[in-house]
Amino acid sequence: MKTIIEPFRIKMVEPLRLTTRAEREAILRSAYFNPFLIPAEAVLIDLLTDSGTAAMSSEQWAGMLRGDESYAGARSWYRFEAVMKEITGMPHVLPTHQGRASERILFELLGGPGKIVPSNSHFDTTRANIEHSGAEAVDLLCEEGKKPRLRRPFKGNMDVARLEELIQKVGPERIPVVMMTVTNNTGGGQPVSLANLRAVRQVCDRYGIPLFLDACRFAENAYFIKLREEGQQHRSVRDIVRDMFALADGATISAKKDGLVNIGGVLLMRDDQLAQRANNLLILTEGFITYGGLAGRDLEAMAQGFQEVLDEDYLQYRIRSVEYLGEGLLHAGVRIVEPPGGHAIYIDAADFCEHLTPDEFPGQALVCALYRHAGIRGVEIGSVMFGRQDPATGRMIHPPMQLVRLAIPRRVYTQSHIDYVIEAVAEVYADRSSIRGLRLIDAPPLLRHFTARFEEI
Ligand code: F0G
Repeated sequence: MKTIIEPFRIKMVEPLRLTTRAEREAILRSAYFNPFLIPAEAVLIDLLTDSGTAAMSSEQWAGMLRGDESYAGARSWYRFEAVMKEITGMPHVLPTHQGRASERILFELLGGPGKIVPSNSHFDTTRANIEHSGAEAVDLLCEEGKKPRLRRPFKGNMDVARLEELIQKVGPERIPVVMMTVTNNTGGGQPVSLANLRAVRQVCDRYGIPLFLDACRFAENAYFIKLREEGQQHRSVRDIVRDMFALADGATISAKKDGLVNIGGVLLMRDDQLAQRANNLLILTEGFITYGGLAGRDLEAMAQGFQEVLDEDYLQYRIRSVEYLGEGLLHAGVRIVEPPGGHAIYIDAADFCEHLTPDEFPGQALVCALYRHAGIRGVEIGSVMFGRQDPATGRMIHPPMQLVRLAIPRRVYTQSHIDYVIEAVAEVYADRSSIRGLRLIDAPPLLRHFTARFEEI
């Protein structure tokens, strides 16, 4: 059989509300053309993020009822800790409420003024936490990763030569940790190979620098390794995951992605003394070390989710359904970041709206056009998210790409939902010259994409 099906059936449904074009037009205006300000109920297909939006399984819901809510030493904690140790081989497991809480603890310990933290590409909360500590965050993505239409298997890899150059230039004592984001969200959801992780590890060893993974999408990354890396085809995803973590000294994880839960995070590490200090901070702001800001039932759902995500039938369906969306868009003539990533498709909005200049926010304009036409919500990753004003001239400095991300929640939408998205994007593309640019009315100085307000030009 060639058809890859959703390897689950639906037991509980949540109705979607259909809106008219006139309703959506009014909602867009009252949301000032910012999708973050649209009420979720008025969205038909929500592709804003794959984070915290997964559908939980019947076993996860059963775990929710079994959850032990004891303050200290809950049964649910021991189960969660055992699962994480088994999957990752890491001796210290700290529960947190989500990924950025793990990042805050790690960089409060390792960051600080004068320090530099390199990565293939930092996610924006990771970068913000590093900068908040006073340290500098540096992206060292390989050259292939910067070419959107180049098809290569591991475009999330780090440029290892540049890592070594950086270490030699600033001195290893200024680099407290090297991070690797797997898969690389900022760079299109592209995977990192085992070979690249090994090469980075060797450089780290040479200079005595620890290596941490930002492992939110570790299972998707491992599945790409199985599909694409030489000699890995006959190995299990579980074994590949073990290899990935074996190369690291620790990891920050948002369980809202490959943990298949709606809330939760993890901080993993090998070093006993660092773990002791991290536990002290955990108690200070998250909660006691056996629950870390979560309910016992959340720990149960995570323990189950982290195992289910390693099911290779699930991963085959997951990676294939994102690829299917990418193929459909390419077939309609739409340019995307290639090859399709693990959790999302990134549309080249500069090409889609070639009649708009970066100052007219083509990505945001496209996000609004998709919502207006079909009730689909994506997110701009371009000048709204990353543009900055030059303090000297007052002119906008634009990022290298204007993208729209369509992130696919896990186990939530069926193939017909995806077919609908393909059809909608193709229709908007056919009429693309009618998409109007946007003017910024006001925005806060930091993380402005969440609350910025726009008007149509
Ligand atoms: N690291 C990566 C690679 C991420 O994609 C995210 C979240 C985080 C860290 C932070 O985790 O949200 O649990 O605090 N990414 C979401 C997204 C928000 O839409 O890509 P968190």
